[in-house]
Amino acid sequence: MADNNQQEHWHRRLLEHRAALFAVLTTVALSVGGIVEIVPMFTLHAESDAANRLAPYSPLEVAGRDIYMREGCVGCHSQMVRPFRSETLRYGGDWSRSEEYVWDRPFLLGSRRTGPDLHRVGKKYSDSWHYDHMKDPRSMASNSIMPPYPWLLEWKVDSGDVQASMWALKMAGTPYTDAQIQGAPEDMKKQGEAIVARLAEGGRSAEHDDEIVALIAYLQSLGRHQRRDVADASSPEVTE
Ligand code: HEC
Repeated sequence: MADNNQQEHWHRRLLEHRAALFAVLTTVALSVGGIVEIVPMFTLHAESDAANRLAPYSPLEVAGRDIYMREGCVGCHSQMVRPFRSETLRYGGDWSRSEEYVWDRPFLLGSRRTGPDLHRVGKKYSDSWHYDHMKDPRSMASNSIMPPYPWLLEWKVDSGDVQASMWALKMAGTPYTDAQIQGAPEDMKKQGEAIVARLAEGGRSAEHDDEIVALIAYLQSLGRHQRRDVADASSPEVTE
């Protein structure tokens, strides 16, 4: 401290007084931080591993996902179960892994939880439950503040729109083949009719191209990307 008065500190003399040099060295120092974070993303191939393991959304699920985005469900529902015991106990299954989002373009993580997280909702309820809940949430949860979406029971999915979405996803890197995109209407009909049959068993009537059917397909797919190898492992002990 004392020699500060007599003689300037070397740091001040050599670095801080030389604006250009200081700017260059600061940039180098910051770049190191950036490189350390960015380079592993290109070398770890996490995405291609996940790509080998996880099938992209089916055409009907793409349709349902588009409806989920259009209706703004993300404004009330997150899709990320955090690695806390309270979360895994509440939502069941495993906490969310980054690779599960490999086909999510755009991602729908959400930042609000007015309603529960939905990342593990797939197969939690029957198709009929979702049908009734979307038509009138209060019929299933009497105090629900979720709005009803009765029009989903009437509006139809346009398979041309779904093909356009698939094409856009393909451009963004999802490996849909041209044959898959071309065959989307048939694929949707097949998956939709299976849901319609389950709804009919529960006494609900729907057609394979109703929006509700596509949304149910999407909701039931959430969480199916769970890593099988860790599905039975216990949650990590993370302090909240
Ligand atoms: C205004 C906020 C709000 C919006 C918008 C909203 N929800 Fe909800 N949602 C809730 C609340 C609150 C609950 C919990 C009560 C209930 O089950 O209705 C809930 C529950 C759910 C559940 C049951 C989750 C579980 O694990 O029990 C599903 C599935 C669901 N919402 C789907 C949707 C979908 C799909 C949309 C968009 C079409 C949507 N929600 C829009 C607030 C919202």
